[in-house]
Amino acid sequence: MPIYQTSTFTQEEVNKHKGYEYSRCGNPTRSALDECLASLEEGKYGLSFSSGLAAEHAIFSLLRPGDHVIVPEDMYGGTYRLIKEILEPYNIRFTFTDFTDLEILQKAFLSSTKMVWIETPTNPLLKIFDIQAISDLSHKRNALVVVDNTFLTPYFQKPLLLGADIVVHSTTKYINGHSDIIGGAVILNNTVLYEKILLVQKSVGAVPSPFDSWLTLRGVKTLAIRMRQHEQNALSVARFLIEQPNVLKVFFPGLESHPGHEIAKKQMTGFGGIVSFLINGGLNEANVFFRKLRIFQLADSLGGVESLANYSALMTHEAFTPELRQKTGITENLIRLSVGIEHIDDLLSDLNNALTINLA
Ligand SMILES: Cc1ncc(COP(=O)(O)O)c(C=O)c1O
Repeated sequence: MPIYQTSTFTQEEVNKHKGYEYSRCGNPTRSALDECLASLEEGKYGLSFSSGLAAEHAIFSLLRPGDHVIVPEDMYGGTYRLIKEILEPYNIRFTFTDFTDLEILQKAFLSSTKMVWIETPTNPLLKIFDIQAISDLSHKRNALVVVDNTFLTPYFQKPLLLGADIVVHSTTKYINGHSDIIGGAVILNNTVLYEKILLVQKSVGAVPSPFDSWLTLRGVKTLAIRMRQHEQNALSVARFLIEQPNVLKVFFPGLESHPGHEIAKKQMTGFGGIVSFLINGGLNEANVFFRKLRIFQLADSLGGVESLANYSALMTHEAFTPELRQKTGITENLIRLSVGIEHIDDLLSDLNNALTINLA
């Protein structure tokens, strides 16, 4: 697909154009990406955005003041900030609850509930929620189900086939895969909802550039091979971490000990590339660990071919209040690893070196 690096398109006469008028409203490179992402998620329509949060915002724009949404307690901190700082002041109401217990979830529904927002596996604690069961009970209450599929990509999970209405992505992560763009996407089947989100996109204008669309398309070509390698490395990293004396707990849905392992096996075809763990200590010990790492780099983001380490409490989840962090388990000894596709021996020796220190 060429890069149509243009803001506008010449027209033959008034009301007679060649398919595209102005690149905020549509661009051939972006259309190719839209089509590609829709096809990967097995949805009818795809819409690409300039960031994952712009894509989320476009979906939330379906709501009106007084509408109610149920969201998980443990979710990406930027989504939480969008809710607290932008949406709640418009009187869109949110209930944060535990999606692992469907009885508790049932009780969160109100007559005004219009949407249930799922992130699974969650960022950063990798909780697993049952998409099919949540979709079934939400549809009985006439609520739309949105799934943030950033962590797994359609290679490992296809929420639309499990009953969800809308899939959202931060394509910044695995979809693009090379840590060189910021992007987002919405994929869905319903024509009325598609038209509404398209109108938001055109009116607000948070669209990706033709070059970023092209880079994302290029990244997607290797999605399958990257995801397989991320998962294989992540499983080895999780198994390694369990054995380390300076590691108190490991979170990875591929481990049989993970509470969501059975649901994960049912709804996912792979466990993804993110592993979180609790280090023995707190911020100081985490900093010693981060400083000693050579291959894993301390940074926000995830899903690129390079391995990254992240301190969720003060990086991706700094928008959470300290009380909420404590309640949800985003503690000061939690470290999230985005396991890249480097040679596993190099990754394990890097972790081994950074962990075999006197952390006390
Ligand atoms: C699960 C999840 N959803 C959404 C986003 C937001 O995407 P972006 O940073 O592309 O706006 C992120 C970013 O980290 C994320 O991890």
